[in-house]
Amino acid sequence: MHFNDIQRVPSDPILGLIEAYATDANPNKFDLGVGVYKDAMGLTPILRAVKLAEQRLVDKQTTKTYIGGHGQTSFGTLISELVLGKDSPLLAAKRVGATQTPGGTGALRLCADFIADCLPGRGIWLSDPTWPIHESIFAAAGLKVSHYPYVGSDNRLNVEAMLATLNQIPHGDVVLLHACCHNPTGFDLSQDDWRQVLDIVRSRDLLPLIDFAYQGFGDGLEQDAWSVRLFADALPELLITSSCSKNFGLYRERTGALIVCTDSAEKLLDVRSQLSATARNLWSNPPDHGAAIVAEILGDPELKTLWMDEVEEMRSRIAQLRAGLVEALTPLGLGERFAHIGVQRGMFSYTGLNDDQVAKLRYEHSVYLVSAGRANIAGIDASRLSLLAQAIADVCHD
Ligand code: LMR
Repeated sequence: MHFNDIQRVPSDPILGLIEAYATDANPNKFDLGVGVYKDAMGLTPILRAVKLAEQRLVDKQTTKTYIGGHGQTSFGTLISELVLGKDSPLLAAKRVGATQTPGGTGALRLCADFIADCLPGRGIWLSDPTWPIHESIFAAAGLKVSHYPYVGSDNRLNVEAMLATLNQIPHGDVVLLHACCHNPTGFDLSQDDWRQVLDIVRSRDLLPLIDFAYQGFGDGLEQDAWSVRLFADALPELLITSSCSKNFGLYRERTGALIVCTDSAEKLLDVRSQLSATARNLWSNPPDHGAAIVAEILGDPELKTLWMDEVEEMRSRIAQLRAGLVEALTPLGLGERFAHIGVQRGMFSYTGLNDDQVAKLRYEHSVYLVSAGRANIAGIDASRLSLLAQAIADVCHD
């Protein structure tokens, strides 16, 4: 048989939890696995702005024909403005181009293949730890993957160690940075830290790739873009992967972009010709529906305001859940131990729980976390915070 030698591989470290959670019969289960926002009802609803935009699209769309390798121009322009700021001089100078991709993950894969094809010999440097799919995507594209320290075994951000390693990266290599809401830890760099990273990137002539998957979930839509804009203003070249999965709630529509900043409008055309050729081999044309929704929202002042309010609603709810969990852990003597949950940003928290404790939470309390203790704070049911705190206390005091 042709398939005889094919071995089974373990399920995805994050997506595998969806199925495990769904089949757990415990009515008191908690899904803190995959990074999906849930509201007070425990649902991941379609945003109101998205629903309205979809309705408009149903009425006015006249074709489903191909949209070309870079996707819709309006989406590309609007997403670039959202990321870089409407007044970015790069936009006026035509030094920015967005390629529509199937989600932020698609943008990362396109970027990985672009680096492998067009910048041969460049390695990529990832934070330790990082989103596990960063590791596999760049390895799959054939890049040499290395790491710079980020959060150590003491569950603290170690900027000194990070900078020391960045200072030794070979000239020309690519360094992947998380713009905000670091996945999986939730620990973000301060503005001063970012400036120091920028100095090193510049002095060592590194090529930054900024992964921007959670715009609006940290401190706000504009605030979260601060680091990206710092780099875009200071450097001649930059790669940015942007995702609309979380802030537009378009998870399954697979909507994202690879945004490239070049030192001239002419060079942008060269780079984009390569990106479109690479995308042709990956998915030919990008999926359109999600991007059309985003363009409809960002291009309409009323819908945009509604959407911005909804993002703010999600952001502040996550912040409240962070504070609420620390508060619920405090009477159990764990407030100080888990105080970092209130400091971290975005959906995720590196809780500091070890793999044994994560396993106990799952098998004894039906609380699902990703390995290494990553909890999706945005998935917590606020009405059962004390139950969750009790389960955490049980595994900590064991
Ligand atoms: C996560 O880290 O949970 C999300 O980014 C979803 C994913 O694709 O892994």
